[in-house]
Formats: sequence, C-alpha cells, structure tokens
Amino acid sequence: MNRPGDGVAGSDSKDIDPPMAGRVPRHLAIIMDGNGRWAQQRGEPRHAGHRAGVESVRSTIEACVEHGIGYLTLFAFSSENWRRPRSEVDMLMELFMMALAREIRKLDKNDIRLRVIGDVAAFPEKLQKQIAEAEQRTAGNAGLLLQIAANYGGRWDITQAARHLAEKVAAGELSPEDIDERQLAQATSFGEVPDPDLFIRTGGELRISNFLLWHCAYSELYFTPTLWPDFDKAAFSEALAEFARRERRFGQTSEQLDDKAGLG
Ligand code: IPE
Ligand code: IPE
Ligand code: MG
Repeated sequence: MNRPGDGVAGSDSKDIDPPMAGRVPRHLAIIMDGNGRWAQQRGEPRHAGHRAGVESVRSTIEACVEHGIGYLTLFAFSSENWRRPRSEVDMLMELFMMALAREIRKLDKNDIRLRVIGDVAAFPEKLQKQIAEAEQRTAGNAGLLLQIAANYGGRWDITQAARHLAEKVAAGELSPEDIDERQLAQATSFGEVPDPDLFIRTGGELRISNFLLWHCAYSELYFTPTLWPDFDKAAFSEALAEFARRERRFGQTSEQLDDKAGLG
C-alpha cells in the first residue's frame, strides 16, 4: 500500500534513488531521549518528564502528517530499559497503556496505522492485548504508518530475522544461497517498510543505543541537545531543514548526482 511520501525521497536500500534525495524524508525514526533530565532540571521526578514527553509524541505525529511523511518510527522502550528501577519501568508501562487508550481513536480518525515493533511477548498481558487491538483497529488505514519500538533492540531484530530464515531453511522452504539482503530485511520487524531517511536523537547523547542497526545503514543522522519534552514543531522543522540540506550520495560522487539531475 502506498503511504504519503512514497515515491518522493527514495532512500530505500532496495530502491536507491539519489537524485531525489534531500527533500522531505519518507521515513523518520526518532530516539526520544532526555525525559529524565528535563524533569530533573525542574526539580521534578523523572516520571514527570516521561509524561511531558507524551505531548512531544503528539506534536511530532501531527507534524509528520502536516509534512506528508509516510512513516514514523519512535523508540519508546529499549530492550535495555528493563535495567531501570522497577518503579520507573512500571510507570512507563502504565503510561504506554494510558496514552494508547487515550489516543487510539484520534489516530484511527486521522487514518494513521499503528504497529508496535519489538519483543512484545515480555509485556504484561493486558498491554499485549491492548497493542493487538490497536493494531487491528488501524490495520486498514492508509495515512501515516506509526511504528512504536517497544522492548526493541537492533540486535534482537537482526537475531530474530536470522532465526526466522534458519527455520525456513530447516523446513526446506528456503535454500541458504537464496538468502540475500532483501530476504533478511523482510524478516526484520520492518518487513516491507522502507529504511529511515532521517534518524533523529534528542537529548544530546551521540550514540545509537541499540536502536535500528540494520535499517539505519544509509540514514542521515541528526543529533540535537534539545531534550525530548522540548522537541516542539519548531525543533522538528529545523531537523527537516537540515535534512533537506544534506547531499545523499549512496556511494556515488557529487558530480554523478549533478549529471543525473541534469546540472552537470
Ligand atoms: C527517554 O528519556 C525515554 C525512555 C528511555 C523511556 P530518558 O528517561 O532516557 O531520559 P534521560 O536520558 O535520563 O534524561
Ligand atoms: C534510548 O535511550 C532508549 C529510548 C529512548 C527508548 P536511553 O536513555 O535508554 O539510552 P542510553 O542508556 O543513554 O544509551
Ligand atoms: Mg536517556
């Protein structure tokens, strides 16, 4: 199914199209970091930051729809975040459930399709059920595809993809020599979803923290010190403007890109 932005900024590793690069990203992925520090700076407990972060999620979704972005992937909970204090983990689960319950109707009304990627089997059953219902309810929507990465790890994703392919080989459905990048990509939690064109991390840390490892091979990386609860529409537009200034070469030279664009 075609999403908004499909056929615009081709960055998909399966269909690389450099001359069209540098406009609006077709797929945006974000590490939403800095909630805890935002709260601590105000003398408030960390959970106040997580709550404030939900507002940035809302405005970011709106901004994606306004800019015609087709795919948005948000890192909500990493496979390593279980290491946090139990009270914070519990609070994050509660917040996820509350936000989902409150927002699902609006998402659906706005033609947004929700997918949760990650090892959701580790979540409380109530949350798993809520996720399945939300996914089913919005499955037919053709607007923005919103992927929430929850209990997600880039290494987990590659590992489960490898296991899936190994199972197919063991069942005699696939031969090892037929395994290529496309097969592996499709076995990841992204399936047919194109790779992110733009990868944003808020909160000032300069690392990927086991988010999208396979899929960010050719993403433009954008790190900002802005803490996630402060990441408003103006900050969003700034990131998009920076993306539009980037030259995406995908291994080619600038001159080749100019030639292709008819400028050389
Ligand atoms: C990101 O904010 C949200 C989650 C990881 C769930 P943090 O909670 O990591 O905030 P900082 O990095 O401690 O400020
Ligand atoms: C990454 O942020 C995970 C999410 C934003 C959900 P972290 O705050 O957990 O990452 P590290 O620990 O600083 O690398
Ligand atoms: Mg953090």
